Amino acid sequence: MHTDRFKVTGGQKLSGQVRVSGSKNATLPIIAAALLTDEPVTLTNVPDIADIYTMQHILKFLGVESDFDGSTMKIHAHAIANVEVEHELVSKLRASILLLAPLLVRNTEVRLAFPGGCVIGKRPVDAHLSAFEALGAEVLDDKELLHIKVDKLAGKDFTMTEASVTGTENAVMAAVLAEGKTTIRLAASEPHVQDMCHFLNSMGAKIEGIGTHTLEITGVKKLHGTEYRVTSDYIEAGTLVLAAAITGGDVEVLDVVPHHLDIFWQKLREVGVHFELGESSVRVLPSKDLKPIRLQTAVFPSFPTDMQAPFMTLLTQANGKSFIFETLFEGRLQYLYELEKMGLDFKLINPYQAEVCGPTTFKGREVQSCDLRAGAAVVLAALAAEGETIIDNIYYIDRGYEKLDQKLNSLGAKIERIK
Ligand code: UD1
Repeated sequence: MHTDRFKVTGGQKLSGQVRVSGSKNATLPIIAAALLTDEPVTLTNVPDIADIYTMQHILKFLGVESDFDGSTMKIHAHAIANVEVEHELVSKLRASILLLAPLLVRNTEVRLAFPGGCVIGKRPVDAHLSAFEALGAEVLDDKELLHIKVDKLAGKDFTMTEASVTGTENAVMAAVLAEGKTTIRLAASEPHVQDMCHFLNSMGAKIEGIGTHTLEITGVKKLHGTEYRVTSDYIEAGTLVLAAAITGGDVEVLDVVPHHLDIFWQKLREVGVHFELGESSVRVLPSKDLKPIRLQTAVFPSFPTDMQAPFMTLLTQANGKSFIFETLFEGRLQYLYELEKMGLDFKLINPYQAEVCGPTTFKGREVQSCDLRAGAAVVLAALAAEGETIIDNIYYIDRGYEKLDQKLNSLGAKIERIK
């Protein structure tokens, strides 16, 4: 974990073209799913971000060969060591929980520390564990570790305890090689869940209903190697669009899947941001007189929680009071206190709801990036601010955004990375 900071000189209008990278939240489960075969897998459009290197570290620990050149990743899991992954590695990456399913499937037993990642609220693992139990696994009572065993995974019709994203991904990975038919109800349907399912189908899995909340899986005996291009990151796409909008810029964002962001476009229109959608791109145009709105996050295809903090930062520029209801995570409004240091006027109603009073003239200050998406929010505020903003803890931003500073600088931003 490095201690780099950003020094951002605000007030530059962004212009030009920028390309969205591969999706972090699709790549992580796809890497885990690649462990379900003993044949080689090649992934392209993999983002060059810290989380991927952490995952690669874990693979090494498990005795799995991998090679990553910053965009293409090759994985070959001849076998997986039946060991308990070092706590320190697991605690660096919440998504390491995605290893539960492939380790259970390949080794019939898994012991994993409780995973870490972004510090945002209580993130229970019940959805994962009850899905494994439904498929015939036994969750052993252990306070220190997640410890699961199975004789034979068997297909079942069951309902998730909630539409958990990584929980669904674990359930699907366990079901594709289970005997018989599985129906997963209340499945999460986020674009990254869909992408992992398409990847598994390219390995010979039989998953139907992809993109809906009911997945029907027919178990197969074996999965084979494949080559697969990871889908683009819709959260990064949205963040770049917001960066253009908050600076009043004229920017074309390339390699976007517009359909992944339907509600986001609706909300942007409601706010009064001008933009033109292409087949795989969006052009953001300068807009004036932004209007306040009510925003509520929920599971896909509703407004994504990962887009909440960056979008609220745009709403600070609207004329009047906007309202946010973050329905998924407790504690995901903490970034408002960082924006307050820069001049924001807001009222926290409870840990899930807040009112933001715009328009705000942000002033450059020293602020923290409290988690990945909160980090993106303070970067956006800094782009719009008068003067210089220093952002600490940008390790969180580097975890999930590929070269955000370089991409924004290519559009005319002034962001210096201080080592
Ligand atoms: C994944 C994403 C993360 C994103 C989150 C929600 C990865 C690697 N991480 O995390 O970036 O922020 O999904 O989109 O893909 N919850 C509800 N109701 C629901 C579903 C979830 O209240 O219907 C709550 C859960 O109790 C939990 C939180 O939301 O507290 C996270 O949900 P979950 O979908 O499990 O998140 P992750 O899979 O960990």
